[in-house]
Amino acid sequence: MRIEQFDPTADAGSLRACHQISLASHPYDVPFMPPPSYTAFKGGWAAGWGLGEPRETWLARAETGEPVGCYLLRLPEKDNQEVGFTELIVTPERRRSGFGSALLAHCADRARLAGRARLQGMAVDGSAGETFARAKGATGGIDEVLRTMDIDAGLPAKLAGLRAAAEPHAAGYEILSWQAPTPEEHLAGLVELQRVNVAIPMDEGMEPMAVDAERLRSMEQAALAMGVRYYTVVAREVASGQLAAPTEVAVERETPEWGFQQLTSVRREHRGHRLGLLVKIAMLELFAEQEPGVKHIFTGNAGANEHMIAINEQLGYKIAAVFRFWELGLAGS
Ligand SMILES: CC(C)(COP(=O)(O)OP(=O)(O)OC[C@H]1O[C@@H](n2cnc3c(N)ncnc32)[C@H](O)[C@@H]1OP(=O)(O)O)[C@@H](O)C(=O)NCCC(=O)NCCS
Repeated sequence: MRIEQFDPTADAGSLRACHQISLASHPYDVPFMPPPSYTAFKGGWAAGWGLGEPRETWLARAETGEPVGCYLLRLPEKDNQEVGFTELIVTPERRRSGFGSALLAHCADRARLAGRARLQGMAVDGSAGETFARAKGATGGIDEVLRTMDIDAGLPAKLAGLRAAAEPHAAGYEILSWQAPTPEEHLAGLVELQRVNVAIPMDEGMEPMAVDAERLRSMEQAALAMGVRYYTVVAREVASGQLAAPTEVAVERETPEWGFQQLTSVRREHRGHRLGLLVKIAMLELFAEQEPGVKHIFTGNAGANEHMIAINEQLGYKIAAVFRFWELGLAGS
């Protein structure tokens, strides 16, 4: 086997080969999600989601030249500087032949060379990825629960009922919405929300992603360049003008029936006003008008995030799968 680094912004052939491996793996590893479009895959592997952090991409070929596996290694610089994050895949028909082990050893070396003390990758519970991670002695993190909801004919009436019950608790707040790029007037407020809303349950020893205005804009630009439509709904306190609770959903051009929930949170001092539920209801109502083709919404929360889960269950979300990050220590090996 040969493992070769490639430049995903210049070598479309190798990137396509990695996308093919990801597509072939999809029914085995994440059948509950829509298959990854090439555009979205490229947005991650070539554009790095606009995060502006170093990345490496490596493709493994068998002696015949046939692509058998690949990995992406992310090396964050603005947060989690001790950690390398990998997405490592072996094409299904070539699994259990040692390719995954060889790629992991290679990836661990690269992460170590970049000064990282820990390597993380995620895997769905019950998947080959979990068994592989356990076999390698990796430690599993907290459970992250993926849920989906279907948008059906009964939803508008259900939303109206939920809103009527919640609104009396939210006097003094108004709802705003926009489609990315975020209007300049809201940019600083949105960045602040991302910074203060960091109390989301996460694995021990991990830092939340560092966000500033420049990074937020860069991530938006990367999403827009991929043809992603990115919606934000925010509850704002009328008296202070402070943004209190954002929710964000993205729709990719090549998977038009799916909305992908991004951050939802309520600023600590504004909790207890049902704002989390109200912004999500407002988003679904906005989608009924502006994204009538979206039939399912996909979301993920830490299993310990009780408040958000209660909101999602009220809205009709059902569990699709559980995944977690697996971590290998790199020091001394
Ligand atoms: C996980 C993955 C990379 C493993 O690739 P692979 O080429 O099959 O890995 P290896 O052949 O080197 O397997 C090494 C060991 O892991 C364990 N293992 C891997 N897959 C397994 C499975 N499906 N069932 C049981 N054990 C498994 C075994 O102990 C195996 O050793 P053995 O074959 O000698 O018994 C591959 O299944 C994959 O691409 N999965 C989807 C993406 C993913 O989950 N990546 C890992 C993120 S942490």
